[in-house]
Amino acid sequence: MFHLNVRHLLLQQRISSLTDIAFNPEMGWTSCIILFLCVSVCESWPLPDTEPLMHGVVQSPQYPQPYPPNLQEQWDLSVPEGYQIRLTFTHLDIEASAGCYYDALTVLYDTNILGKFCGHENLADGHHPGNQPILSPGNRLTLMFQSDDNNPERHQNVGFSAQYQAIDMDECSAPEPEDGSGPLCSQICFNTLGSYLCSCHHGYELRADQRSCVLSCGGGIFDETEGHLFSPGYPNPPHHAVSCQYIISVESGFTVVLNFTDNFHIESMDTEQGPNCLHHWLQVTTSDREPMKLCGGKSPGLIVTNSNTVRLDYHTDNEGLSKGWSLDYSTYRVKCPLPGNVAKGRVTPILTEYFYRDYIYVRCDQGYKLMMGGQEVEGFSTMCQSSGQWHLPLPECHIIDCGEPEPLLNGGLTFLSGFQYQYRSVVQYHCNEPFYSLLGGITVVFTCEADRKWRSNSDIVVSPTCIPVCGQPTKLISAYQRIIGGSHAPEDTIPWQVLLNIDGGRGGGMVIGDRWIMTAAHNVMNKGNQVSEETVRIYMGLTDVKTQLDSPVYAASVHVHPEYNNPINVDYNHDIALIKLQDPITFNSSIMPICLPAEGATYITGVMGLVSGFGVTETGGRRILTNKMNYVQLPVVEQETCSKSITSLKKTRDNVPSLSNNMFCAGVPEGGQDSCQGDSGGPYALRDNGRFWAAGIVSWGVDCGKQGTYGVYTRVTNYMDWINKTMQEN
Ligand SMILES: *[C@@H]1O[C@H](CO)[C@@H](O)[C@H](O)[C@H]1NC(C)=O
Ligand SMILES: *[C@@H]1O[C@H](CO)[C@@H](O)[C@H](O)[C@H]1NC(C)=O
Ligand SMILES: *[C@@H]1O[C@H](CO)[C@@H](O)[C@H](O)[C@H]1NC(C)=O
Repeated sequence: MFHLNVRHLLLQQRISSLTDIAFNPEMGWTSCIILFLCVSVCESWPLPDTEPLMHGVVQSPQYPQPYPPNLQEQWDLSVPEGYQIRLTFTHLDIEASAGCYYDALTVLYDTNILGKFCGHENLADGHHPGNQPILSPGNRLTLMFQSDDNNPERHQNVGFSAQYQAIDMDECSAPEPEDGSGPLCSQICFNTLGSYLCSCHHGYELRADQRSCVLSCGGGIFDETEGHLFSPGYPNPPHHAVSCQYIISVESGFTVVLNFTDNFHIESMDTEQGPNCLHHWLQVTTSDREPMKLCGGKSPGLIVTNSNTVRLDYHTDNEGLSKGWSLDYSTYRVKCPLPGNVAKGRVTPILTEYFYRDYIYVRCDQGYKLMMGGQEVEGFSTMCQSSGQWHLPLPECHIIDCGEPEPLLNGGLTFLSGFQYQYRSVVQYHCNEPFYSLLGGITVVFTCEADRKWRSNSDIVVSPTCIPVCGQPTKLISAYQRIIGGSHAPEDTIPWQVLLNIDGGRGGGMVIGDRWIMTAAHNVMNKGNQVSEETVRIYMGLTDVKTQLDSPVYAASVHVHPEYNNPINVDYNHDIALIKLQDPITFNSSIMPICLPAEGATYITGVMGLVSGFGVTETGGRRILTNKMNYVQLPVVEQETCSKSITSLKKTRDNVPSLSNNMFCAGVPEGGQDSCQGDSGGPYALRDNGRFWAAGIVSWGVDCGKQGTYGVYTRVTNYMDWINKTMQEN
C-alpha cells in the first residue's frame, strides 16, 4: 500500500505539469502515465502473496523458558522497499562465552555481521546489545541463533526476545554514492514514506529520469501572429547546459520576422575566421534556407525569415557563459513582387506593395485584347499566393483587328492609315474607275472600331456598291461616218455593241447591264416563236467578228416584249427583247454598258445619233456582210416626216409595216446612210451630258440607205417600265 501511495504522489506531480508540456514530444509517455494511473486507482493493486510485515517479534525457541541445546535457528526478516528494520531487544539472556563462541545470536545484513550477542545485561564479560536498537541498512535483516550441548541443566538462560519495526529510510540524507553517478536528486530531494521524490527549482523541470533537472525552455509551438521569446533565465545566464527548441509556426501566406532585442549574448569562440558558434549557439532554421547559427555579443536585430515556420534551437553546454537572448516576433502577409506594367493595358489596383491574397486585374486599352499564352482571354485577374508568387503571369494586350474588310465587287480598298486591318485602321473603298463608280458617288471610308467591326463614316452607306459607268467609252469617235456610207469603228469607241448569233443568223444588241443585253424582238423570234436561249451566242468587246467568235457569252434567258406579235414580219410594234446572260460581265475599256434613257429623255428632231453594227455595208457599190464593226451618225427624223415617207412607200409596195408611236425614224432624206440587215437589235445612241444613252433599237426599214426612206427604231423610252420590271424580276 505504501508503494501505491508513493506512486500516486509522483503521478500527481507529473500531472500538475501537464499543461506545461502540452506540445512536448513526450506526449506519448504522458498519456501512458495517465493510463497507468487509471489502472492503479480504478482497479485494485495486485497485492503480493506474502505482504511484507511492518513489524513483529522474534523470540528464541521456548521463550520465556530456557532455550534447548544444540540449536541452529535463523530468521529472515524483511519489510517493504524503502524501509529499514529497527530491531530492539526487550530481553537477552544467552550463555556467555568468550567471543560468544558457544551460544550466540548473530544479526546479519546480507553477509555483513551487525552484531553477535551473548550474556545478559548485568554480565560484564558478555556481548549484550543493551538498549540500543539495531538498524539495518536496508529492508532485510537476518537473525541466527545457535546453542551448544553442554550442561543444559546448569544453564537456565531464557534466550532472547526482540521487536522489529519498519523504519522509513531517509534516502535524501544518504551520502552521494562514490561511483560518480551524482546526487540522488540533482536539485531538491523529498523524503517520503518508503521512498523519495526529486523536484526542481523554479524555471527548471524534471527530466524523464526523475532525478535530474533541466532548464525549462518554455518551448513548444508559437502559433500566434506575434509573440515574445527569450532564453531560459534571461537576462541571467543559466547554471546548466540548455538545449531548447522553440517553433514559431503561423498560417502559410504569412512570414515571420524576428526582432532581437539589443541585449544579446551567446558565447562565441574567436577563431581566425572570426567568431565561431562552436559550443553555444542559437540556430535559426527556416524551410527554404540554410540554418543560421547566431552567437556573439551583438544583437542580430531584425531577421526577416520569409517563412511561416521558424525553428529556434538554443544550445549551451556546461562550460562557458551565455547570458542569452530575447526577441519579439511578428508576422506579415507574404509579399509578391510588383506586377509591372502591361503595354497598352492597365493593372489595377496600383499599390506600393502587394501581399498574400491581394488580387490584381488587367484591362487593355480600347482597341486592344487580352492575350495569354497565345490565346485571347475574356478577362484577367491573378492572386498573390502564399508562396509569394502571382498565380498567373501578366497577360499581354494585343491590338485588335477587324479582319479583312468585305471585298468590293469591281472595286477595292486602300489604307488611309494603319495596317493589317488593326484597330483604328481606316480604309477607303473605291470602284474600278472609269468603268465603275460608287453608288451614291460619295467617298466611303471605313474605320476598324473597338468592337472589331468596320464602321462607315456615313450613316447611309452600310456597304458600298460599285455600279457600272454607262455610256462613257474611253475613246470617242472624232468624226462620225456611216455604216452604209459609214466607217469602221475604232476599238473601245462603242463598247456596248454586241454581235448576236442566233441559229446562224446575225444580229446586233447592246449591253445595258452586267447581265443584260437589249436587242430587237425580231432577232429572237423565229416564225412567231421565241428562240431557245441555247441557240443564242453573244460576242462582245471586239470590233472584228473573226476574233470575237472564239469567246461567246451565253444567254440564261430571253425576254421578248409580251405585246410583240409579228409572225409575218409586217408589225414591228414593241420590237424589243432582253437577254439575260449566264454570267455577269466585268466591264473594261472594250465592254461597257450604254445608259438607259433617263426619265423625261426626248428625241429632238435633227439631233445626231450613233448607229452601229456588224451588218451589211456598201463597198464600192456592192453590199457585203462586214466582219468589222461599223457606225454611222444619223439624225432623229420628225415623226410626221417619217410617217409620210412610210405612207408613200405603202402605196408602191406590199407588206410595208406601219409606223407606231413606239418607233421613231432616223436618217437623211437623200439616203446613202442607214442601218441595214444584220444591224437589227443594235443601238441608236444619243448623247446627253457626255453620256450615250440607248434611244433606239435598230428595228426595220425598207431597203437600206435608199433616198426618201429612213431607218425605223424602237423608241426605248416607251419601254422603261417593262425594262425595269423585267430586269428586276429576272
Ligand atoms: C524591433 O524592436 C524594437 C524594440 O526592441 C523596436 O523599437 C523596433 O521598432 C522593432 N522593429 C520592428 C521592425 O518591429
Ligand atoms: C475586257 O474583258 C473581256 C472579257 O472579260 C476580255 O476578253 C478583254 O480582254 C478585256 N479587254 C481589256 C482591254 O481588258
Ligand atoms: C428604271 O430604272 C432606272 C434605274 O434604276 C430609273 O432611273 C428609272 O426611273 C426607272 N424607270 C421607270 C419608269 O421605272
